[in-house]
Amino acid sequence: MLTVSNVTKRFGGLTAVDSVDFTIDDREVVGLIGPNGAGKTTLFNTIAGVYPADEGSITFDGTELVGRKPHQVARLGIARTFQTARTFNESTVLDNVLTGAVFGKDDAASLDEEREAAWEYLEFIGLEDQAHNLASELTLADRKQLELAKGLASKPRLILVDEIGSGLTPSEIQDLSRTLQRVRSELGVSVFWIEHVMDAIMSATDRIIVLNQGAKIADATPAEVRQDPHVAEAYLGGVEASS
Ligand SMILES: Nc1ncnc2c1ncn2[C@@H]1O[C@H](COP(=O)(O)OP(=O)(O)O)[C@@H](O)[C@H]1O
Ligand SMILES: [Mg+2]
Repeated sequence: MLTVSNVTKRFGGLTAVDSVDFTIDDREVVGLIGPNGAGKTTLFNTIAGVYPADEGSITFDGTELVGRKPHQVARLGIARTFQTARTFNESTVLDNVLTGAVFGKDDAASLDEEREAAWEYLEFIGLEDQAHNLASELTLADRKQLELAKGLASKPRLILVDEIGSGLTPSEIQDLSRTLQRVRSELGVSVFWIEHVMDAIMSATDRIIVLNQGAKIADATPAEVRQDPHVAEAYLGGVEASS
């Protein structure tokens, strides 16, 4: 479904993403990990059309994404959530999801139908009781779930989820992890999920891609990645560098 070939993204002299190759298939849940500054968010941004890749190709069902704008990539069926939740805090929970539904549509469904769909996604994440509250009244964990519902309401085939666990307790991360599993099993949507903390996604993914200093250093099952000495070294290096 998604094929990333030899993608490089530079910022001046810094190579943030360095000749990266991988694929994501239908109904896959794939983790993306790596130390801080490894290039994870930049890779998401190049897929989502925020920055054009300097080199390489990114195709989605055969359509080239490099050179497309974020709204065009969204319409092709790729949604995303952000590292810092970007909910509209002065709007209601329902209106937030509705914004997602309307952003992603390219056919002329009526607003009533979109509202119906927004309710379905609110029920999916279990926030229907809070539909008429302001998003600012939600807990951080619920705002993260709302951000997910907003992305899903555009009816994507792939959702890019950037560090949805940051700032949450282990049990809140578990809840989100279960929701992401249901995104695949109940909605049939593939998930590409960044977490800085490896443990959070170990049990919830089919496969994990590891970036270090922009380069892919592993693409394997969680069990294999856990035992990979190069991965351990990359994380240790990160700890040393930041201490
Ligand atoms: N817009 C930007 N301009 C310049 N440098 C950037 C920009 N975005 C990210 N970087 C740099 O690219 C590298 C990778 O960053 P990022 O993709 O955010 O890493 P991660 O998400 O893995 O922590 C870092 O060195 C970061 O400082
Ligand atoms: Mg990041």
